[in-house]
Amino acid sequence: MTPRSRAIAVLDLEPAASDFLAEALAGLSSTPPALPSKFFYDERGSDLFQRICELPEYYLTRTETEILRQSGAEMAASVGENAELVGFGTGAGIKTRLLLQELDNPIAYVPVDISKQRLIDSATALQAAMPSLEVLPVCADYMQPLRLPTPSQKPDHVAVYFPGSTIGNLEPATAETFLERVGRLCGKSGGLIIGVDLQKAPEIIEAAYNDSSGVTAAFNLNLLVRANCELGADFELSCWRHRAIYNQQAGRIEMHLISDGEQRVHLAGREFRFAPGEKIVTEFSYKHTQAGFTALAARAGFRLSRTWTDPQQLFAVFHFVVAD
Ligand code: AVI
Repeated sequence: MTPRSRAIAVLDLEPAASDFLAEALAGLSSTPPALPSKFFYDERGSDLFQRICELPEYYLTRTETEILRQSGAEMAASVGENAELVGFGTGAGIKTRLLLQELDNPIAYVPVDISKQRLIDSATALQAAMPSLEVLPVCADYMQPLRLPTPSQKPDHVAVYFPGSTIGNLEPATAETFLERVGRLCGKSGGLIIGVDLQKAPEIIEAAYNDSSGVTAAFNLNLLVRANCELGADFELSCWRHRAIYNQQAGRIEMHLISDGEQRVHLAGREFRFAPGEKIVTEFSYKHTQAGFTALAARAGFRLSRTWTDPQQLFAVFHFVVAD
């Protein structure tokens, strides 16, 4: 087979649509009511998130990309040659490409993403840009246990790449369990390259999640749009407001949808009542210190190899290896 003739075949482990209903019902019944942030990412939500990444206030993406541009070669050297790179939620793939292009003889790239169209588009573009690389996309929820496809050539080791500070959307205890699973997935000589948003002045963080053009508000409200369209709920969209506040004690931004008045919402034969000002929690986004995150990863069985940050220390990219 010539490199150019490689075709993209997606291993489809996409979760069933009924998960959304079960999790929405459980979330709305909890105190405070909640809707899980993983359901942000339908096609419209993924497009809105893409626009968030380009907003002037949302410093995370451009800062992490700049770290990759500056230090991609060092990261690749730290990972080592003949690696299989597994990418979790790598989105449009710009940062992944910066890393892959620097890697010495990467054996395969396995992007794993819950958003099928985004996965197909980015895997196809990457395959066209790097025709000799074996690209094995998997459509799946990478937060759940996974069995990955086997590349046709055996790699020396597996490196998981988890950019974007998506780890921050997990409660620290859940992040630890998740990283333990990542450690088992990449095995003894494996490693992890992970992007993490750092703690900083609350004004900078709050501005990033309350952008002046209202894209984050539309992204947040899209959860209710989805619940109406896909589950037959009757959220009155004009009666809900987006709000993001930084909880300094917990070190996390909290995204809420606030009820503008007294209202009742119906979903699958159930009624949910909301008082004026009552919130639905839609997302937590934890911000870590370098030491705090290194300790969390250590509890999950990882040893720090190297860290790269930007001059203002807004964001960090860590390389961890599986501890002996
Ligand atoms: C995907 N994740 C890292 C984003 C974040 O910053 O927590 C999701 C997001 N929510 C609002 N804006 C962006």
